[in-house]
Amino acid sequence: MGTDVFSLDGRIILVTGAFGLIGSRICRTFLDRGASVILAGHDARRAEAVREETGEAHPQSRFRVSTVEITDPKSVARCVSDCVEAFGRLDVLVNNAAIDAKFDPAHAAELDAHGFENYPLEKFRKSVDVNVLGTVAATQAALRVMLPKGGGNVINVASVYSEISPNPALYEDGSGNARQKPADYVATKSFIPNFTRYVAATYARRNIRCNAIAPHGVFHGHDGPFLRNFEKLSPMGRMARLDEMDGPFVFLASQASSYVTGITLLVDGGWSAW
Ligand SMILES: NC(=O)c1ccc[n+]([C@@H]2O[C@H](COP(=O)([O-])OP(=O)(O)OC[C@H]3O[C@@H](n4cnc5c(N)ncnc54)[C@H](O)[C@@H]3O)[C@@H](O)[C@H]2O)c1
Repeated sequence: MGTDVFSLDGRIILVTGAFGLIGSRICRTFLDRGASVILAGHDARRAEAVREETGEAHPQSRFRVSTVEITDPKSVARCVSDCVEAFGRLDVLVNNAAIDAKFDPAHAAELDAHGFENYPLEKFRKSVDVNVLGTVAATQAALRVMLPKGGGNVINVASVYSEISPNPALYEDGSGNARQKPADYVATKSFIPNFTRYVAATYARRNIRCNAIAPHGVFHGHDGPFLRNFEKLSPMGRMARLDEMDGPFVFLASQASSYVTGITLLVDGGWSAW
C-alpha cells in the first residue's frame, strides 16, 4: 500500500449487477483507481458490448466480464472461481445486483399499480430470491475463497429504504393514482443492514470486513412530478449524481476504511435526516 489510503492498486474486486446503472459506474471507478475487476452482469447478450466498452479505457489484463445468475449458487460459485482463476484471489465482493423497480420513465410499466393489499406474493418471492438469497449465496461463495487467503472485504448495496419507509408524498403525481415503491423492495433491502452486521461480527477476527452503502435517488433521466417531489422533500433539494457514488464505494473498498466494519453508510443527501 502506498501513502494514498484510497488507492485500489492491486485490489481484486468482483461486482455483481455490473451491467446496471450503479454497477457499471463503480466498475469503471475501481478500474480507474488501479483495481482489477470482475464485471459480473446478468444479461449474457450485453457481455460482449461491455467487454468492448471497458477495453477502450482499461487494459484487458485488469478486467474480466462474466455473467452470473445470483439465485443459482452454482452460477455464483463459477463466477467466483473465474475470478480466482484469472487473478489468483478475491479481495472485495460488491453485492450490488438486485431487483429494483425504478421511477424513471424507462421503468414506469414495472411499478406497483396494485396497492400493497393486492400485491402478488409471487413478485415478493422473486425479490426474496434475488435480493436476499442471491446476496447470501454470493457472500458465502466469496467467503469460501477469502478466508483461506487470510481475509477480505464485502460491500453490500442497501437503500435508504433499508432504514426508513418510502414517503408516499414522493410518489404523488396529482392523478389520485399514485404508485408506490413496492413492499418487496423495502422488505428485502431491510435485510441488508443486519445481515451486514452479522457477517461483520462473525468474521471480524478473521480479517473480513463487511459494510453496506445505502443510496437514495440516483438521477437517471427522471422527470415530472417524481423529480419535483424529490427536490421538495430532499434536504439537499436534489437527486444524487451517479458520480457521487464513487467516493463511498472507494472508501469502503480501500484501506481508508480499515477500522470500519458492520456499518450502513447512508448516501441519501440527508433524506433520512428529517
Ligand atoms: N439507483 C438508485 O437510485 C438506487 C437507490 C438505492 C439503492 N439502489 C441499489 O443499488 C443497486 C444497483 O442499482 P441500480 O440502480 O444500478 O439498478 P439496475 O437495475 O441498473 O442494476 C441492478 C442489476 O442487477 C442485476 N440483476 C437483477 N437480478 C439478477 C439476478 N438474478 N442475477 C444477477 N444479476 C441480477 C440486473 O441485471 C441489473 O443490471 C441495487 O442493489 C439497488 O437496490 C439503487
